[in-house]
Amino acid sequence: MAKVFGRAMQLALFQPDIPQNTGTLVRLGACLAVPVHIIGPAGFDASDRGFKRAGLDYLDKATIVRHVSWAAFDEWRRGAGGRLVLLTTTAIRVYTDFAFRPDDVILLGRETSGVPAYVHDAADARLVIPMAPGLRSINVALAGAMVLGEALRQTGSFPTVAEAMRASIEVSP
Ligand SMILES: C[S@@+](CC[C@H](N)C(=O)[O-])C[C@H]1O[C@@H](n2cnc3c(N)ncnc32)[C@H](O)[C@@H]1O
Repeated sequence: MAKVFGRAMQLALFQPDIPQNTGTLVRLGACLAVPVHIIGPAGFDASDRGFKRAGLDYLDKATIVRHVSWAAFDEWRRGAGGRLVLLTTTAIRVYTDFAFRPDDVILLGRETSGVPAYVHDAADARLVIPMAPGLRSINVALAGAMVLGEALRQTGSFPTVAEAMRASIEVSP
């Protein structure tokens, strides 16, 4: 939990409604040492028990923080101090042109409807992944992976090779 309240990159999912996408993002967070915040209400059982029942991989390696509502998440985020960086198809600023900081909170919208206006307005920055003309959106987990990868690359925040080797030695028999 130390990283969650420290100065580290975080992912946040606004009221996710497709468990497989959340599972993919939780696994991504575990692999890249990035905490994942789930802002409720989710459209499925997002408890540890629900995830275990759904056979979610890497649950024991992930840092998941659940917030019962937008208000609860917003209170946490203001206390933590990082910028809220919203990914949305309605933005005009391209994510590769944005200077990320190591403690940014990258927020992804709900699969069916993105985010409401009050969340859009609360963001410190709104970014888009440019797409071919006429197409609606990228899968939320893939959008998260693309932008988190760029943010970690820019800020030098990927887990280091030394950390990865230490972890693999720790799990070796
Ligand atoms: C399937 S999309 C939601 C589409 C929804 N109809 C909308 O209008 O936002 C789910 C989430 O993935 C992210 N996303 C998908 N494609 C994106 C893009 N091209 N640029 C930025 N974010 C994107 C956004 O966070 C979005 O809210």
